[in-house]
Formats: sequence, C-alpha cells, structure tokens
Amino acid sequence: MIKNKLIVVTGGAGFIGSHIAWELSKENDVVVIDNLYTGNKENAPPGAKFIRADIRDYKAIAEVVSAADYVFHEAAIVSVVESIEKPLFTDEVNVIGTLNILRALMEGHGKLIFASSAAVYGDNPNLPLKESEKPKPLSPYGVTKVSSEHYLRVFHELYGVPTVSLRYFNVFGPRQGANQYAGVISIFINRALKGEPLVIFGDGKQTRDFIYVKDVVKANLLAAESRKANGRVFNVARGERTTILELAMKIIEITGTGASIIFDKPRPGDIRHSQADISEIRKLGFEPEWSIEDGLKKTVEWYKRRAEVTS
Ligand SMILES: NC(=O)c1ccc[n+]([C@@H]2O[C@H](COP(=O)([O-])OP(=O)(O)OC[C@H]3O[C@@H](n4cnc5c(N)ncnc54)[C@H](O)[C@@H]3O)[C@@H](O)[C@H]2O)c1
Repeated sequence: MIKNKLIVVTGGAGFIGSHIAWELSKENDVVVIDNLYTGNKENAPPGAKFIRADIRDYKAIAEVVSAADYVFHEAAIVSVVESIEKPLFTDEVNVIGTLNILRALMEGHGKLIFASSAAVYGDNPNLPLKESEKPKPLSPYGVTKVSSEHYLRVFHELYGVPTVSLRYFNVFGPRQGANQYAGVISIFINRALKGEPLVIFGDGKQTRDFIYVKDVVKANLLAAESRKANGRVFNVARGERTTILELAMKIIEITGTGASIIFDKPRPGDIRHSQADISEIRKLGFEPEWSIEDGLKKTVEWYKRRAEVTS
C-alpha cells in the first residue's frame, strides 16, 4: 500500500489522472501538474496541491518531480485526430514532456508510471495482443507513445530510474471528456441522455476492449508497488471484446431514454477489432473488478448528475 508518500500526478486535472489523484490523496501528499489544456481544475482532489504548469517547461516541473516518490504521468495530447493535424506539437508534449520528467527523476529517487496506449499496436490481427507484439502505430499519437516507452526503458537501463509503462486500452468512466474526439462511451451516453440518436460508423460489429477507470487506477497502484515491473510494459484492459452495437444497446437500456441508433459510413483508419492479453499484468496481482455493465451504470449516474448541476 502506498502511504505517506509524495505523489506527483501529471494530467491530474484530466479524466484518468484525476481518478489516480483522488485515490492516492486519501493517504499521501499529492501534487497535480496540469496546464488545463483539456483538463479542469475542479477534477483534481481538494486536498491536492495544484501546479498549473506545462510539462514542456523543465524548470517549472523539475523541482517537484525530483522530490517525488512516485510520478503518475498522464498528461498528454490524447486526441489521435489532433496528433495527425499537429504532429510536431504532439511530439513536444508527449515525448519532450516525458523526457523532462525522466530528466528530473535522474536528480531524484522516484518511480515513473507512464500512461501508454493500445495505439502502439496499430491494426494488428494477432488478438488477443501480447506486449511482445511488434509496435506499428498508425498515428503520430501512437508514435509518441512508442518513443516514450523506449525512453522509459532506456532511462531504467542506463541510469537506473525505476519506470513502468502501462498500455491502456479503451478507458471509460466519470469525468471523461465528451467532445468529438473523446471516447465512444462518453459520446454515446451524452447523446442518449439528450435523446439524440447514437451514431455508429460501419456495421457496429467492430470491437473494443473497454475498462472502467477504477480498474485502471488499480493497475497503476500495482505497477507502482511492484519492483519486478520496473523497466517493463504491461497491457491494461479487461481482456474481452465488446461490439460497438452491444455497447450502444446497453447504454440505451441503462439511460432508459429510448434513443435510436443510426449507422454511418465506416471511418477511414478505424481499426476493426481490439483485445488485450492481460496475463502479464495478472502476474502483478491485477484482476479487473468492474464489469462493463456496472461501470456504465456508474458513468451514466455521473453524467446525469452533472447535467442536473449545469442545467
Ligand atoms: N482515455 C483513454 O481511453 C486512454 C487510452 C489510452 C491511453 N490514454 C492515455 O492516458 C492519459 C490520460 O488520458 P485522459 O483520457 O485522462 O485524457 P485527458 O485529456 O482527460 O487528460 C490529459 C490531461 O493532460 C493535461 N495536459 C495536456 N497537455 C499538457 C501539458 N503540455 N502540460 C501539462 N498538462 C497537460 C490536460 O490538461 C489534461 O488534464 C494520456 O496520456 C492518454 O494518452 C488514455
């Protein structure tokens, strides 16, 4: 158990980072670093110290990062579409930003737990995907995650910085953004709650491996605590496939709004199927606890409450 430590969460005003920060702030000192590019300060836990800083700015973050016991690095340009439009900017935030944290940790003693992505695999048909598959990203976003993973491993091997990379699959839960680039679940829930049709691109038989955010937090804590995880990469998912059509129908049932489903042209570049092999992270003691259904119920409750507050 991580207790009485100094924890830094980059991107802690965003979706996943805020859940990590809330969980750890119960028993530790938590510092959130975020420039509020997509995040919202109110997402961070009230007890945490908030530093509004850009991870590209080494001087602004070095002191606190080098004092930390653990750094959970979630800050990034997270939109694949944005990365295609702005590859250089994405590389600066996602790769130089990560390098800045690694540099600062060389001066300190803390461990880095890095939010990588299933995007490193690209459209690989060898499902379920093992970490040993050769990365072949299809976007600048995916390239930045592969590069960062390599930097983590190299800093571990060359300079002894304890690091671990977690390849998240499709994460969902409260506080996830619902703009056009956000995850399909937050988009579907928001449309269903407004009684608008859910738009499926293609036939709806494409699959994704969804995981509720609280299970992702648990994976982060296990990876942080395990010394044998150092220098390595792990998939973080439920290890199951759900079709987008099943998902849409489940959301319509849970929201109870009778929203309809419409089918549109498949989007170029979308991968057909995705599923992780999670046997490696299971060896660290990980077991997903949240079914998709229970996670969806919690997420719908949260979006409903938020709609009441803002209406
Ligand atoms: N949500 C998913 O399904 C998913 C899947 C795979 C990987 N990931 C990774 O998980 C991490 C968290 O993603 P999320 O879904 O919570 O996204 P998010 O957009 O909610 O969070 C990202 C946070 O980073 C902050 N940020 C962006 N640029 C910054 C900068 N230059 N300096 C400081 N802060 C900056 C944003 O303001 C935001 O609060 C990201 O690294 C993302 O690539 C997410």
